[in-house]
Amino acid sequence: MLNVTPSRESLDPIEIASLDEIQSLQLERMKWSLQHAYSKVPMYKQRFDELGVHPDDLHNLSDLAKFPFTNKDDLRDNYPFGMFAVPQQQIARIHASSGTTGKATVVGYTQNDIDMWADMVARSMRASGTKSGDLVHVAYGYGLFTGGLGAHYGAEKLGCTVIPVSGGMTERQVTLIQDFKPTTIMVTPSYMLNILEAFQSAGIDPRECSLNVGIFGAEPWTASLREQVESAFDMHAVDIYGLSEILGPGVANECVETKDGLHIWEDHFYPEIINPETGEVLPDGEMGELVFTTITKEGLPMVRYRTRDLTRLLPGTARSMRRMEKVTGRSDDMIILRGVNIFPTQIEEHVLAIPALAPYYQIELTRAGAMDSMKVLVETTETCSGDERDNVAQQLADKIKNTIGVTAQVVNGEPGSVERSQGKARRVVDLRPKD
Ligand code: DLL
Repeated sequence: MLNVTPSRESLDPIEIASLDEIQSLQLERMKWSLQHAYSKVPMYKQRFDELGVHPDDLHNLSDLAKFPFTNKDDLRDNYPFGMFAVPQQQIARIHASSGTTGKATVVGYTQNDIDMWADMVARSMRASGTKSGDLVHVAYGYGLFTGGLGAHYGAEKLGCTVIPVSGGMTERQVTLIQDFKPTTIMVTPSYMLNILEAFQSAGIDPRECSLNVGIFGAEPWTASLREQVESAFDMHAVDIYGLSEILGPGVANECVETKDGLHIWEDHFYPEIINPETGEVLPDGEMGELVFTTITKEGLPMVRYRTRDLTRLLPGTARSMRRMEKVTGRSDDMIILRGVNIFPTQIEEHVLAIPALAPYYQIELTRAGAMDSMKVLVETTETCSGDERDNVAQQLADKIKNTIGVTAQVVNGEPGSVERSQGKARRVVDLRPKD
């Protein structure tokens, strides 16, 4: 793989500043942000008043624990624009995340927010090994989803040539990669697997293509998937994290030289890890729910937003700012099957560890009487014979039983039988009756 590590000189000075310097900037910005939220968003005024806290009560960063949390429901209750902190005329752009149930979550950005967002995506791309002048293929969806436009503006800011392909039409994605020869691709990891499949169907060796950096996010993906994509394309696969409520892509990103978790761009987003049951703040290193406070955002300031993503905070390595461990799941995606907690990524690890299986999977949950059952739909690679197919299904069922502790029915179908992702993969189909 090509060495694409950025030079120290090309980084923003704050990325490698001392912790004292970073923390004093955070404190100053956090004071501004709490005041901004309190004075401009009625919901925050009411919440702060109810708890008897005032922005002036923040004397150091740990005082943040006195302030109330914000939830996704707060955005829904104030749908569409009720939590914006500036008049609508100062909002330059709206995005929304679809959500599987209920109303969409609507977010808004001022022009300064859009500039900061582009800076953070540019910083993330540089950390991934992309540089000015590179050709960047953006296959995240464009539209209300933050992936496409977020990546697009960041790539432009870094000085790249952007190819705004968006998602879908997988064969065309391959043609464009072959013809335009981009060196970076930005796409969900599950859709990258479809692109890989389209390369293989077209009889083109993906290792020969021009790509040398892939910036993958918007959904959980495992280290095993990283290995698979890196070896299939002879490229670096780097993790980008973000969420619409806080920004979109570019809240945190891995550094290509270490690939050891995602550095959080703490000069704009202040992270905490809490115990999801009690709300208590946990020390760095402990696993819990990730919470973010925006400290520079104008349009939609967020105070202690509960992401529902589960991870832990770790000290900086390639940069001074703290890292978050790769997110392996969010509390909403956790399957509770007969008392056992399961994340889809645990199944992914096992699917990818069996060479005869293609890297696609979907989990189906059903209920017969009082009994919940889990079916794992997978498929073998083209070269696998009929007998081998049954063995492989048993092998996967055994691995799931031995490591996760649940009995799953593995259905090993024909190549192409498992639903393919068009963006964020639908890992779980829950057919259980709603109680
Ligand atoms: O998915 C923003 C984004 C776009 C991030 C493109 C990266 C690349 P939402 O649609 O609001 O925003 O979904 C946010 O997706 O809370 C996580 O649960 C999940 N997620 C995002 N990035 C990652 C990642 C975009 N790298 C939700 N690893 C978040 C695991 C991720 N989960």
